[in-house]
Amino acid sequence: MDPVEIIKKHYAGHPKALKFLLEHSGQVAVKAVEVAMRVRHLGPDVRFIEEAAMLHDIGIFRTAAPQLGCHGGHPYICHGVIGRALLEQEGLPLHALVCERHVGVGLTVEDIKKKQFPMPLRDMTPQSLEEKIVCYADKFFSKDGKPLEEKPLDAVRDFIARFGEDKLAVFDRWARMFEGK
Ligand SMILES: [Fe+2]
Repeated sequence: MDPVEIIKKHYAGHPKALKFLLEHSGQVAVKAVEVAMRVRHLGPDVRFIEEAAMLHDIGIFRTAAPQLGCHGGHPYICHGVIGRALLEQEGLPLHALVCERHVGVGLTVEDIKKKQFPMPLRDMTPQSLEEKIVCYADKFFSKDGKPLEEKPLDAVRDFIARFGEDKLAVFDRWARMFEGK
């Protein structure tokens, strides 16, 4: 399976989004594999992590994010759910779950209800080690500003804290597990 081929197939008419997506996903994949190597004792599936990291944002082109070259009709927050549907059609149900479960530090049913996000009411928080690693790695690369720079851990924490103490607690648990911090 070649994630780049799958991406290119869907992004044929979206060159700007394709360029952004390959850059961003490539960075997340490198970081995710680094994290996986640090927790080798937990037995992560490194190949799966690399593939899923490349594919995690595949749903963005169907959302409205013109700054990323995406001119779809859905709110950006829905790109995870959209990516899941896409990858299920590709016969990749486990990669699909990584898409759905990587937004923020994961969306709970409570989050979806409270914010009235237009998406199914089901738990969308990372469950497997691989899902957690891709979600964690993604948080170090912002989608606006300087896309090529990895954010320092403190900057990621400050950003996550804006969404609530419970979200920061999830991130800090991962940071301890993945960085020894
Ligand atoms: Fe994303």
